[in-house]
Amino acid sequence: MSIKKGVPLYDQADDNGFWGKFGGNYLPEPLLKPADDLHAAFQELRHDKNFLKDLEKLRSEYIGRPTPFFKLENLTKELGGAEIWVKHEAQCHGDSHKLNGAIISCLIAKYRGQTEIIGDTGAGMAGTGLAMAASRLGLKSRVFMGKVDYERQKLNVMRMKTLGCEVVPVTSGSQTLVEAVSETMRYWLANCDTTAICVGSVVGASVFVKLCAFGQHVISREMSSQMMDIFGEIPKATLVAAVGGGSSSFGFFCDFIDHDQISMRGVEAGGPENNDKLHAAPLTNDSPIGILHGAKQYVIQSPDGQIQETSSIAAGLDYPGVSPLHCYLKDEGRVIYTSASDEEAVKGFEILAKTEGIQCSIEPAHAIADICRIAPKMGKDEKIIGLVCGTLSKDAPLLAQRLNIEL
Ligand SMILES: Cc1ncc(COP(=O)(O)O)c(C=O)c1O
Repeated sequence: MSIKKGVPLYDQADDNGFWGKFGGNYLPEPLLKPADDLHAAFQELRHDKNFLKDLEKLRSEYIGRPTPFFKLENLTKELGGAEIWVKHEAQCHGDSHKLNGAIISCLIAKYRGQTEIIGDTGAGMAGTGLAMAASRLGLKSRVFMGKVDYERQKLNVMRMKTLGCEVVPVTSGSQTLVEAVSETMRYWLANCDTTAICVGSVVGASVFVKLCAFGQHVISREMSSQMMDIFGEIPKATLVAAVGGGSSSFGFFCDFIDHDQISMRGVEAGGPENNDKLHAAPLTNDSPIGILHGAKQYVIQSPDGQIQETSSIAAGLDYPGVSPLHCYLKDEGRVIYTSASDEEAVKGFEILAKTEGIQCSIEPAHAIADICRIAPKMGKDEKIIGLVCGTLSKDAPLLAQRLNIEL
């Protein structure tokens, strides 16, 4: 397979749901039909006039699109190299990009006459997005969240609960995102005849990758027209975004994969600086191919194929696998993948706040950290565009602790 021009990458899977070597549908047999039915409903609804009208209305009225795209004058001066721009996706209602994906699964569920929806969350942003979209569309929601994440992202637990969502702490394994996704799949296996599902990133069996990517594609489609308005063309630029499961970064890259003048960098979670072994960066560290949550992908694993422990200051990046779309883009050499450590991310948060008055969450702070490394080495006539896809809201206690600020 090679990348076709003019067709979004998420629509380029083969008949078995693979992008090259990656993806597929490694699902338990009883989930094959529900997954197929969801795929058929999605393929029909994405061309349905009423569905698209409802989606556009939700995007503009409820999510608050378009999100801003503008130059970071002060950070540009501070770093003294390339011009730095931002796509400020954190200005979506709900403080992150996650509502872009959740709204698709919830709207499909509503059109199919379903009344309940479940989903996974790590940092609590996907869960908050799901709980918000579900409330707005009159669905009952239930979100699975690892107990470790439940404790470290308590403010989002509060948000989900006050949205009327049932938040289920998951106490198995690492008690983080990987277990939350597993538990969501287990629950769906037992309840798929009554309950819809929303996977929080572009991970899992191919239908989930496609649905979430379709929802997040709006980021780059919108930025592409903002670029045309400002520059009169798609300029030469380097896009930089953090990669957890990979939904925000994929949505940010998607429309530009065809444009040779655009370079792209995905920044994974490098974990604590003093420990080479603990990280959540399968692409940067050349992890082997394995199967996780129904898809073939690069995944952090032991020599005998057991999923291994990960570590990151950012709950939203703390995942051993990564989307098949990113695995494919890495193999094609279309995107460069690197990582930033916990400590670099904290510095990234600080510099963006102090120079620009933008307080981002710890996940996109990894992208800012990479921008701080590359911008000074680039010419003043070059452009970097960073994606800020979350606000400080959920991370205030964490950052206060890291920055020795007493609350
Ligand atoms: C603010 C924010 N950014 C990024 C991520 C990473 O997820 P993804 O790579 O799917 O965008 C998360 C995940 O929870 C998040 O909350």
